[in-house]
Amino acid sequence: MAFVLKRAAKRLVRAQNAAKKENATLPKQEDLEKADIILPEEIIPISTSVKKTRTEEPESITDVEHTGHIALPKEYATVEAKTDILEKVRAVSESYPLVTTLFKGVKYVVATATIRFNPVTNQLMYIVEEPTISDRVTEIIKQTLKLLQERLDIEPSKLKARKEVYGYVDEKINEIWDYLGAALTEDEELKAKYYILRSTIGYGHIEPLMRDPNIEDISCDGVGQPVFIFHRNPSYGELITNISFSTKEELDSFVMKLAQKAGRTISVATPLLDATLPDGSRLQVTFGTDIARKGSNFSIRKFFKSPLTVIDLIRYETANPLLLAYLWLIIEEQQSLLITGTTAVGKTTFLNSVAQFVRPGLKIVSIEDTAELQLANVNWVPQVARTGYGPTKYGEVTMFDLLKAALRQRPDYLVVGEVRGREASVMFQAMATGHPALSTLHADSLDAVMDRLTTRPIDLPVSLLENLDAIIFLEKTNKDGRLIRRVAQVLEIEGYDRVANRLKTNIAFSWNPTTDAFETHDSALLAKIAAKRGQSPEKLKDELLRRANLLNWMSKKGIAKFRDVANMINLYYTNPAQLAALMRA
Ligand SMILES: Nc1ncnc2c1ncn2[C@@H]1O[C@H](COP(=O)(O)OP(=O)(O)OP(=O)(O)O)[C@@H](O)[C@H]1O
Ligand SMILES: [Mg+2]
Repeated sequence: MAFVLKRAAKRLVRAQNAAKKENATLPKQEDLEKADIILPEEIIPISTSVKKTRTEEPESITDVEHTGHIALPKEYATVEAKTDILEKVRAVSESYPLVTTLFKGVKYVVATATIRFNPVTNQLMYIVEEPTISDRVTEIIKQTLKLLQERLDIEPSKLKARKEVYGYVDEKINEIWDYLGAALTEDEELKAKYYILRSTIGYGHIEPLMRDPNIEDISCDGVGQPVFIFHRNPSYGELITNISFSTKEELDSFVMKLAQKAGRTISVATPLLDATLPDGSRLQVTFGTDIARKGSNFSIRKFFKSPLTVIDLIRYETANPLLLAYLWLIIEEQQSLLITGTTAVGKTTFLNSVAQFVRPGLKIVSIEDTAELQLANVNWVPQVARTGYGPTKYGEVTMFDLLKAALRQRPDYLVVGEVRGREASVMFQAMATGHPALSTLHADSLDAVMDRLTTRPIDLPVSLLENLDAIIFLEKTNKDGRLIRRVAQVLEIEGYDRVANRLKTNIAFSWNPTTDAFETHDSALLAKIAAKRGQSPEKLKDELLRRANLLNWMSKKGIAKFRDVANMINLYYTNPAQLAALMRA
């Protein structure tokens, strides 16, 4: 019997190969009938066989058993030889203005940024240069600040327009100087006003950093520690600055001011804060108590009018065009994905950028704790949870509440900022009932993912996790003195093994830290999609490469802005001929 099966299989493969040579599609039923065999059940799932490119006949039946997977193309896997990064870093020397002001009709630059290599510490540095002032002016500034506190009868943050705020405070400063009889030269006046405005309505020491649109992240780990920033320029990345807080009092009062700007308070009793600043930036503060031994610490994740896009991910080498094209295909096909990794690895950013792959026109409902997501999709309903007031948490709306409500809004896609608690069960049940979801989870390995999802407080049964289609693991590490972020692995969920009570998984992509290249393997998910679309693996692979080429072309051309990326994706669907012409031009 085994022998008969083996022969039948061989003939089947021969028939398949013959059919493939004629056209790129899989054999039709007639072809199989011509092959003069009766198909045994076991080898029926041929629709996604990957052995299409081989010309000679496979040796044994095991060659055709490898069905259900599509071998991913190897394009884009090789890395171009990289020039010595350290050499490049040493040569960096860039300066640009951070704060300019219009003073008596003339435009002045009051603060600049200089990025250069420090040969002593062997590090790239971000140096903020601000005006130098004499002791006499410093004293006047101190007195003015004290008097301003008493005289500002309107809380500056209550004034809406920026110009209005500046005008109001400026007027008050002039009044105070008249009162003090302060005699300042024009130059001194300009500088003194910069410092006064900086500490009253600005962000104090970090004002210049807040003004730099290239900075994504500002953080400080404690007293005497330098403030770190993350620069948008892919060749800079994380940079150390010349700004620091030298005393505990200074840092504590600074973080209290930050909290105040976010309309919240922070104290020894409530030392942890996660809030949103007026410009939409995300603020995290730990007040210096027994729990933060280096003193207070903070991190600001700046809000971008234009968030990072998939093309930025290519430019930062977080992923390559092929990997993103793959995600594009599976997101278009409404598969459910979980993006995981440690703190600040770039989960939310990744989620936000790949959400652009949701087919234009589909309805997305997003749910998050702090408003971070920014999608270009027209049919997007963003919702943000809110904390309640007082001990009864009056008025609280949790992620769980929002998610339950969201399901009644008939979304085509759910985007959940981060799963942490009870909302996870709603999300997974939603997936099970055909509402695909994209979300993030704080975990750095499959074991950690399973652990977080199946133990308290999330507590899901393993079987429910099979509704997930793929997990994307992000990793950040140091390489040649730079912080790099990479997709470490794309893991497909093939199903649930009831006996072992485990998920059956398949690695589609993995990152090799030694070569810094993305390695491609087989994809079960694409095979599933090909079958669902009734498309041959070859056709799907062609499509995958077409999309990868488009993304690659966009990155080479520098088409990376949020809107532009959205337009290109739209064009891919609506007018491929125009897009092809554009790419050829
Ligand atoms: N691929 C990337 N390349 C460069 N910078 C990135 C990348 N992804 C994210 N960033 C930057 O890193 C910072 C952290 O990103 P993000 O908020 O996405 O991380 P996260 O993993 O969601 O963090 P958390 O664990 O706090 O939720 C942001 O300032 C963001 O702009
Ligand atoms: Mg996040």
